[in-house]
Amino acid sequence: MRVVVSIGGSVLAPKLDPGRVEGYAGAIESLAREGCELGAVVGGGGIAREYIGAARDLGANEVQLDQIGIDVTRINARLLIAALGDRVDPTPAHDYDEAGDAIRRGDITVMGGVMPGQTTDAVAAALAEYVNADLLVYATSVDGVYDADPRTNDGAEKFAELTPTELVDIIAPMSRDAGSSAPVDLLAAKLIERAGMRTIVLDGEDPDRVEAAVLRGDHAGTDIVPAGSGGEPTYWTQR
Ligand code: UTP
Repeated sequence: MRVVVSIGGSVLAPKLDPGRVEGYAGAIESLAREGCELGAVVGGGGIAREYIGAARDLGANEVQLDQIGIDVTRINARLLIAALGDRVDPTPAHDYDEAGDAIRRGDITVMGGVMPGQTTDAVAAALAEYVNADLLVYATSVDGVYDADPRTNDGAEKFAELTPTELVDIIAPMSRDAGSSAPVDLLAAKLIERAGMRTIVLDGEDPDRVEAAVLRGDHAGTDIVPAGSGGEPTYWTQR
């Protein structure tokens, strides 16, 4: 089974904590031992926000701020690489070709951002499409896709399952709000829709949840299931 795991920066590195990174490396190594081919996409987290805030105060423009964000995601990628064993490509992939080559060689690949104007949510969706992944998992700081922001709406309801088109329809109005509460950004949702990519959005606080979701489809988040995709990945039913 080929899997792309997007690890939000706020999940992997809300602040520098080797224990958290080690926990994720353990989950990824364990998935690789189970026979998964893996790409991990890592976000920038609190450290990126601090750098971007400082650079904004210094007068940097939005593209320059994105470039700083990308650099931090790549540093976080190096952190995860440092915690992974020798089955990982030692260099963060700078584009989808490099990531795809590493996966074809049998390495785990880790990458951060690739270009200004987007976030690593979109990178993960594009990588999943590029390497023809069976599954894309977003390990985020919210535990699924809701019909409203659960942090500000007590009555917000979580979706157990959505089609990619429904995901786009839910995310689109959320993305227009300042300080968007969307669990994945709109570009990522559109790429998921275009590719018809089977996707899970879950709470990434505990990396074991990612393992259970990938290996058995067990999770408490939201399944994004393309219409007419014929149910669950065969990998789950064979286990
Ligand atoms: P993240 O993917 O972590 O952004 O990339 P985010 O969603 O804002 O962060 P979290 O998950 O909520 O913590 C960090 C920053 O890097 C730049 C953007 O500025 C982004 O906000 N970036 C990242 C890009 O410009 N292009 C990319 O491909 C990736």
